[in-house]
Amino acid sequence: ETGYVTLDPGFVNTASCASAVTYIDGDAGILRYRGYPIEELAEKSSFLEVAWLLIHGELPTPEQLASFDEQIRERTLLNEGFRSFFAGFPTSAHPMSVLSAGASALAAYHPDLLDPFDPAQVDEASVQLLAKLPTIAAYAHKSSLGEPLLYPDSSLGYVENFLRMTFGLPTGKYEVDPEVVKILDMLFILHADHEQNCSTSTVRLVGSSNASLFSSVSAGIGALWGPLHGGANQAVLEMLERIHNDGGDVKAFVNKVKNKEDGVKLMGFGHRVYRNYDPRAAVVKKATRKVLDTLGVKDPLLDLAMQLEEVALADDYFVQRKLYPNVDFYTGVIYKALGFPVNSFTALFALGRLPGWIAQWREMINDPATKIGRPRQVYTGSTERHYPAK
Ligand code: SDX
Repeated sequence: ETGYVTLDPGFVNTASCASAVTYIDGDAGILRYRGYPIEELAEKSSFLEVAWLLIHGELPTPEQLASFDEQIRERTLLNEGFRSFFAGFPTSAHPMSVLSAGASALAAYHPDLLDPFDPAQVDEASVQLLAKLPTIAAYAHKSSLGEPLLYPDSSLGYVENFLRMTFGLPTGKYEVDPEVVKILDMLFILHADHEQNCSTSTVRLVGSSNASLFSSVSAGIGALWGPLHGGANQAVLEMLERIHNDGGDVKAFVNKVKNKEDGVKLMGFGHRVYRNYDPRAAVVKKATRKVLDTLGVKDPLLDLAMQLEEVALADDYFVQRKLYPNVDFYTGVIYKALGFPVNSFTALFALGRLPGWIAQWREMINDPATKIGRPRQVYTGSTERHYPAK
């Protein structure tokens, strides 16, 4: 009646940890944040409301949400010292390298927020990260273009402010398209948490040494960057562009994948947990066509992606291996339509995943039973031997 399940001890030993934040049923394609189905949250909620839900375990009251929003708006401004931080990176720097370094640098600017066992410090650090990471991401983009950095505008909502800092210029007013805000807010919700994935496990493991939330999130950003994980959304777009530039022969590409030519994979397909369609991919796929029509964008890569999915899901190679589209397969087409450069896609994933990292880190700090223990190994090296006598 409490909704708790009794885990078979064997399962807990194979699971990396117990957690009450997110539930996934990989075979049934189910994803719930604190019990709420992702489809309902994507349709009815907002990113900040979902962030509160993940972190605090319950949907916020209207007053709690208003205060949370206000606290974040008041903290979006970076210390001016960050200007030389951004100036120090080459314009070719990948946004994920700037984002990871920026998250870590926050620990230097907020040395009073490093104690993981002081609830007030953890609450403040949580809000600081949610407020400042979008500013760091937007500035990474602006610095790469050699364009001036726009200060955050606290009269704007979370996503509007991020879009304005990313695409706005001091020479004129940036009109934020409400449709674009709605789409990006929904995409952030879909990325907000996903149980013990690579980057979240990284955040937990780093945090298990009682390292600060800033250091733990910085490490999580580094893990997310990998093309087998969050970096897949960039790799999917690059894959689609390669197929398109090679003449768009989807079947020829699929054959290359099946023959494992040059280790090529169908990026955006497959998942360590989902052996069925990733429920997030279903939501994104449904939205993609509508988004492009709303924005008046025609992108042949969307048709190519849909053809690729159709050919792959009709092919035993993929069906037998239970390889279906995952969250990264269609998101890149939308990000591109919204005007983001391909190398910033994974930074968008990080902004979406941030509340999940924070929620899971706090759960681990507050409940040692959910800590990932120090991993052990099976030793496969040399047995004892001795240094040769001279
Ligand atoms: C994310 O964990 C999470 O929750 C992550 C995430 C989140 O929200 O945090 O959901 C986000 O990271 C999604 C995944 C994004 N990555 C990609 O799209 C990269 C492409 N996918 C693969 O690299 C792969 O599918 C993984 C890494 C995602 C999952 O690998 P698995 O399930 O461990 O599969 P495997 O590596 O054991 O491969 C099993 C078989 C192999 O073939 P055989 O040796 O049996 O012949 O399936 C093949 C693999 O070669 N295979 C693929 C494939 N993925 C697996 N073949 C072609 N294309 C692919 N994408």
